[in-house]
Amino acid sequence: MQLQNAIALVTGGASGLGRATATRFAQAGAHVVICDLPSSAGASVAAELGKNAIFCPTDVTSEADVLAAIAAGEAAFGKPINVAINCAGIAVAARTVSKKGAHDLATFQRVLNVNVAGTFNIIRLVAARLAETEAGPDGERGVIVDTASVAAFDGQIGQAAYAASKGAIAAMTLPIARDLSGFGIRICTIAPGLFKTPMLASLPEQVQNELSKTVPFPSRLGDPSEYAMLAQHIVENPMLNGEVIRLDGALRMAPK
Ligand SMILES: NC(=O)c1ccc[n+]([C@@H]2O[C@H](COP(=O)([O-])OP(=O)(O)OC[C@H]3O[C@@H](n4cnc5c(N)ncnc54)[C@H](O)[C@@H]3O)[C@@H](O)[C@H]2O)c1
Repeated sequence: MQLQNAIALVTGGASGLGRATATRFAQAGAHVVICDLPSSAGASVAAELGKNAIFCPTDVTSEADVLAAIAAGEAAFGKPINVAINCAGIAVAARTVSKKGAHDLATFQRVLNVNVAGTFNIIRLVAARLAETEAGPDGERGVIVDTASVAAFDGQIGQAAYAASKGAIAAMTLPIARDLSGFGIRICTIAPGLFKTPMLASLPEQVQNELSKTVPFPSRLGDPSEYAMLAQHIVENPMLNGEVIRLDGALRMAPK
């Protein structure tokens, strides 16, 4: 699938990895629908990207919001969508048992709801729409990219909820690729290591430096544009499907 003239829905597109992807895709000639919370910087990011981008205030866990975003994108750019990039997500840090007692169950459920149900909500609704569209000459109807984390495989102390959510995103990649293969829809998941987004940039410089040293090579935090580069490659490479790709400079997280 070529990005030029494609319509790509990017969740979490107002910040960090999603914002970098929206920017790269718009520069590559795609039309971008930035889906992020109403409170996000989505409107100003879309304005910055110009006529190739619109902002649709979206909570990824809402069926009505996601259907409205698909419809708004198609109305704005005058053709069916082709691509969805799932970057919306939240992280919490809480141990299974701490001085405060047992892990709060509502917090665990909130992380699973946003990260897993939210990601799947986009996948199911976008895929259903893609299934109605005409296939390209190679039989392809669309491409979906999800975002897990290295925490899916080596979650740290305090990451039970986050790792469970990212593990679920990694685990559902292959069955969804199998489900959607008959429609000519591909799906891959990127599992990033440590990237310099607002999520990490808010940490003290010294902590960022310590984190950088844990990455074998290159020994630094990833730049969001490097995530965007891989997202573009997944969209464009027809043989990539059903795979989870670590993007981490060979990082393996220690217990803490
Ligand atoms: N930054 C990293 O090092 C890193 C590493 C591994 C995985 N990830 C994952 O990458 C994704 C993007 O992370 P980031 O670092 O860019 O974070 P970020 O906080 O900069 O961006 C996340 C965006 O998601 C949006 N969002 C949150 N809940 C939402 C909802 N219910 N509906 C719509 N939008 C919602 C936020 O408003 C925000 O704009 C997340 O899923 C995160 O878990 C990040």
